[in-house]
Amino acid sequence: MHRGKGMKFVGDSRVPAPEMRTPKLPKDYSEYPGKTEAFWPNFLLKEWMVGAVFLVGYLCLTVAHPAPLERIADPTDTGYIPLPDWYFLFLYQLLKYSFASGPYTVIGAMVIPGLTFGGLLLAPFLDRGPERRPRKRPLATGFMLLALAAIVFLTWQSVATHDWAAAERQGKIVAKVEIDKTSAGYKIAQANTCITCHGDSFQGGAGAPTLIGTGLSPDQIAKIAKQGKDGKMPPGVFKGTDAELKTLSEYISGLGKK
Ligand code: HEC
Repeated sequence: MHRGKGMKFVGDSRVPAPEMRTPKLPKDYSEYPGKTEAFWPNFLLKEWMVGAVFLVGYLCLTVAHPAPLERIADPTDTGYIPLPDWYFLFLYQLLKYSFASGPYTVIGAMVIPGLTFGGLLLAPFLDRGPERRPRKRPLATGFMLLALAAIVFLTWQSVATHDWAAAERQGKIVAKVEIDKTSAGYKIAQANTCITCHGDSFQGGAGAPTLIGTGLSPDQIAKIAKQGKDGKMPPGVFKGTDAELKTLSEYISGLGKK
């Protein structure tokens, strides 16, 4: 057999010939005089100075505008309605719509965000046209504008529909007040189950606000004790006498008053 006869060895084209290899030397920037600088210390020093300016800037901002704090988190307070930061409000709002909540929470929490962010992730593979101008890429531009509009709309909706007064009340930092549990007012509150909702030190809980420092007058409190409030506090809680109601209302009105 004459297998291989007449064959010529041509070499492996994948390995460049030694003289074709680019030397692993740093580039020569000598043709850019005055436009280069040493990384250490010149360049790093400049970077650090810029960093320091931002750092001091943020420091001033945090001192001038301290973070709005709420009271210490209470894991037993199931009535507390948490709110995400503003940049997640649109996702939060999405979960309020009936097609994306309750039995369909998976749609609001996984499917819709998953499709959107998945699409964004796959965009470079799906849209491979060479065109760069937004006008010439109607699909990509359209989806982007749609997403932006949706985010703006949902954020706005969430801000507009949130009960900010209730949010402020539930997070209010309450000054520690000594509660005299032997006082007549406290005993009436106990007998009329006020403390089962408002807490045994009137600190609030289970969806009921604190009764310390409400700023309400005794008359207003007496009215709430009998008629309830906003459908969230049931009416007819108070079952005592008028004299007891007066003592109770004055007692609660005085809580936390300076
Ligand atoms: C079943 C639970 C429950 C009981 C019992 C209850 N409350 Fe309330 N109370 C609430 C809730 C919930 C609210 C908040 C209503 C709202 O958000 O408008 C509230 C609100 C109030 C407020 C208004 C506080 C504010 O800062 O605006 C007062 C005052 C008050 N309750 C007094 C009483 C008194 C006095 C008693 C006892 C006679 C009592 N509550 C018993 C649930 C309760």
